[in-house]
Amino acid sequence: MERTFIAIKPDGVQRGLVGEIIRRFESKGFTLVGLKLMQVSKELAEQHYGVHREKPFFPGLVQFITSGPLVAMVWEGNGVVASARKLIGATNPLYSEPGTIRGDFGVDVGRNIIHGSDAVETAKTEIKLWFKDEELVNWTPANTPWLYE
Ligand code: TYD
Repeated sequence: MERTFIAIKPDGVQRGLVGEIIRRFESKGFTLVGLKLMQVSKELAEQHYGVHREKPFFPGLVQFITSGPLVAMVWEGNGVVASARKLIGATNPLYSEPGTIRGDFGVDVGRNIIHGSDAVETAKTEIKLWFKDEELVNWTPANTPWLYE
Protein backbone atom coordinates (compact mmCIF):
# COMPACT_ATOMS: atom_id res chain seq x y z
CA MET A 1 0.00 0.00 0.00
CA GLU A 2 1.15 3.57 -0.71
CA ARG A 3 3.04 5.53 1.96
CA THR A 4 3.94 9.20 2.41
CA PHE A 5 6.29 11.20 4.60
CA ILE A 6 4.66 13.91 6.73
CA ALA A 7 6.46 16.29 9.09
CA ILE A 8 4.86 18.67 11.56
CA LYS A 9 7.35 21.53 11.44
CA PRO A 10 8.61 23.34 14.56
CA ASP A 11 5.86 26.00 14.32
CA GLY A 12 3.16 23.31 14.35
CA VAL A 13 4.73 21.66 17.39
CA GLN A 14 5.21 24.97 19.27
CA ARG A 15 1.61 25.97 18.52
CA GLY A 16 0.19 22.74 19.92
CA LEU A 17 -1.18 21.45 16.61
CA VAL A 18 0.30 17.93 16.78
CA GLY A 19 -2.90 16.28 18.05
CA GLU A 20 -5.15 18.18 15.63
CA ILE A 21 -3.01 17.23 12.63
CA ILE A 22 -2.76 13.56 13.58
CA ARG A 23 -6.52 13.53 14.18
CA ARG A 24 -7.17 14.79 10.64
CA PHE A 25 -5.08 12.02 9.05
CA GLU A 26 -6.62 9.36 11.32
CA SER A 27 -10.17 10.57 10.70
CA LYS A 28 -9.62 10.54 6.96
CA GLY A 29 -8.81 6.82 7.20
CA PHE A 30 -5.04 6.72 6.81
CA THR A 31 -2.84 4.47 8.93
CA LEU A 32 0.06 5.75 11.02
CA VAL A 33 3.06 3.44 10.48
CA GLY A 34 5.92 5.65 11.78
CA LEU A 35 6.12 8.46 14.34
CA LYS A 36 8.94 10.27 16.15
CA LEU A 37 9.58 13.63 17.79
CA MET A 38 13.04 14.84 16.90
CA GLN A 39 15.48 17.73 16.92
CA VAL A 40 16.55 17.90 13.27
CA SER A 41 20.24 18.35 12.40
CA LYS A 42 21.40 20.96 9.86
CA GLU A 43 22.65 18.10 7.65
CA LEU A 44 19.26 16.35 7.58
CA ALA A 45 17.38 19.61 6.94
CA GLU A 46 19.75 20.49 4.07
CA GLN A 47 19.39 17.03 2.55
CA HIS A 48 15.61 17.02 2.87
CA TYR A 49 15.30 20.42 1.16
CA GLY A 50 18.23 19.80 -1.23
CA VAL A 51 16.20 20.76 -4.33
CA HIS A 52 15.85 24.27 -2.90
CA ARG A 53 19.56 24.72 -2.15
CA GLU A 54 19.96 27.65 -4.58
CA LYS A 55 16.76 29.44 -3.54
CA PRO A 56 16.97 32.69 -1.53
CA PHE A 57 14.75 31.23 1.21
CA PHE A 58 16.96 28.13 1.72
CA PRO A 59 19.11 29.36 4.66
CA GLY A 60 16.04 30.65 6.52
CA LEU A 61 14.20 27.39 5.81
CA VAL A 62 17.01 25.26 7.23
CA GLN A 63 17.29 27.57 10.26
CA PHE A 64 13.51 27.24 10.84
CA ILE A 65 13.38 23.44 10.45
CA THR A 66 16.22 23.02 12.95
CA SER A 67 14.89 25.65 15.41
CA GLY A 68 12.87 23.30 17.63
CA PRO A 69 11.34 19.84 17.84
CA LEU A 70 9.63 18.42 14.73
CA VAL A 71 7.28 15.44 14.45
CA ALA A 72 8.22 13.05 11.63
CA MET A 73 5.58 10.57 10.47
CA VAL A 74 4.83 7.99 7.83
CA TRP A 75 1.17 7.50 6.82
CA GLU A 76 -0.20 4.67 4.71
CA GLY A 77 -3.31 4.25 2.54
CA ASN A 78 -4.67 4.18 -0.99
CA GLY A 79 -3.59 7.37 -2.76
CA VAL A 80 -2.18 8.79 0.47
CA VAL A 81 0.53 10.92 -1.22
CA ALA A 82 -1.85 13.08 -3.27
CA SER A 83 -4.60 13.02 -0.66
CA ALA A 84 -2.21 14.23 2.07
CA ARG A 85 -1.21 17.15 -0.15
CA LYS A 86 -4.92 18.04 -0.40
CA LEU A 87 -5.39 17.80 3.37
CA ILE A 88 -2.30 20.01 3.81
CA GLY A 89 -3.25 22.72 1.27
CA ALA A 90 -1.26 25.12 -0.93
CA THR A 91 2.33 26.03 0.01
CA ASN A 92 1.44 29.62 1.01
CA PRO A 93 -1.13 29.35 3.84
CA LEU A 94 -2.53 32.75 2.94
CA TYR A 95 -3.87 31.16 -0.24
CA SER A 96 -4.59 27.62 1.04
CA GLU A 97 -8.27 26.74 1.03
CA PRO A 98 -10.12 26.85 4.36
CA GLY A 99 -10.56 23.29 5.57
CA THR A 100 -6.96 22.43 4.78
CA ILE A 101 -4.35 22.32 7.54
CA ARG A 102 -2.40 25.30 6.23
CA GLY A 103 -5.61 27.12 5.27
CA ASP A 104 -7.05 26.73 8.76
CA PHE A 105 -3.94 27.43 10.82
CA GLY A 106 -1.34 29.48 8.91
CA VAL A 107 -0.66 32.92 7.42
CA ASP A 108 3.01 32.89 6.27
CA VAL A 109 4.79 30.70 3.68
CA GLY A 110 7.84 30.50 5.97
CA ARG A 111 5.68 29.16 8.81
CA ASN A 112 3.41 26.73 6.99
CA ILE A 113 3.13 24.12 9.77
CA ILE A 114 3.50 20.87 7.86
CA HIS A 115 5.39 19.06 5.12
CA GLY A 116 4.06 16.31 2.88
CA SER A 117 5.85 14.45 0.07
CA ASP A 118 4.86 15.80 -3.37
CA ALA A 119 4.93 12.49 -5.33
CA VAL A 120 5.11 8.74 -4.77
CA GLU A 121 8.80 8.59 -5.76
CA THR A 122 9.69 11.57 -3.52
CA ALA A 123 7.84 9.87 -0.66
CA LYS A 124 10.01 6.75 -1.01
CA THR A 125 13.20 8.85 -0.92
CA GLU A 126 12.02 10.93 2.04
CA ILE A 127 10.85 7.92 4.09
CA LYS A 128 14.33 6.35 3.59
CA LEU A 129 16.00 9.61 4.60
CA TRP A 130 13.99 10.10 7.81
CA PHE A 131 13.24 6.55 9.02
CA LYS A 132 15.13 3.29 9.49
CA ASP A 133 13.22 0.20 8.29
CA GLU A 134 12.83 -1.04 11.87
CA GLU A 135 11.17 2.23 12.92
CA LEU A 136 8.20 1.52 10.62
CA VAL A 137 5.42 -0.81 11.76
CA ASN A 138 3.56 -3.08 9.35
CA TRP A 139 0.04 -3.47 10.66
CA THR A 140 -3.57 -3.52 9.53
CA PRO A 141 -6.06 -1.54 11.65
CA ALA A 142 -9.24 -3.35 12.69
CA ASN A 143 -11.43 -0.83 10.84
CA THR A 144 -9.89 -1.61 7.43
CA PRO A 145 -12.94 -3.58 6.09
CA TRP A 146 -15.07 -0.50 6.88
CA LEU A 147 -12.71 1.81 4.97
CA TYR A 148 -12.02 -0.20 1.82
CA GLU A 149 -14.43 -2.17 -0.34
P1 TYD B 1 7.94 23.73 -1.70
O1 TYD B 1 8.56 22.38 -1.89
O2 TYD B 1 7.80 24.62 -2.91
O3 TYD B 1 6.47 23.64 -1.05
P2 TYD B 1 5.70 22.46 -0.27
O4 TYD B 1 6.20 22.46 1.16
O5 TYD B 1 4.25 22.89 -0.33
O6 TYD B 1 5.96 21.18 -0.99
O7 TYD B 1 8.80 24.55 -0.62
C1 TYD B 1 9.33 23.92 0.50
C2 TYD B 1 9.19 24.83 1.69
O8 TYD B 1 9.99 25.98 1.51
C3 TYD B 1 7.78 25.38 1.89
O9 TYD B 1 6.95 24.48 2.60
C4 TYD B 1 8.05 26.63 2.68
C5 TYD B 1 9.41 27.10 2.18
N1 TYD B 1 9.28 28.21 1.23
C6 TYD B 1 9.57 29.48 1.67
O10 TYD B 1 9.93 29.70 2.84
N2 TYD B 1 9.45 30.53 0.80
C7 TYD B 1 9.03 30.34 -0.48
O11 TYD B 1 8.93 31.33 -1.26
C8 TYD B 1 8.72 29.01 -0.93
C9 TYD B 1 8.27 28.74 -2.34
C10 TYD B 1 8.88 27.97 -0.03
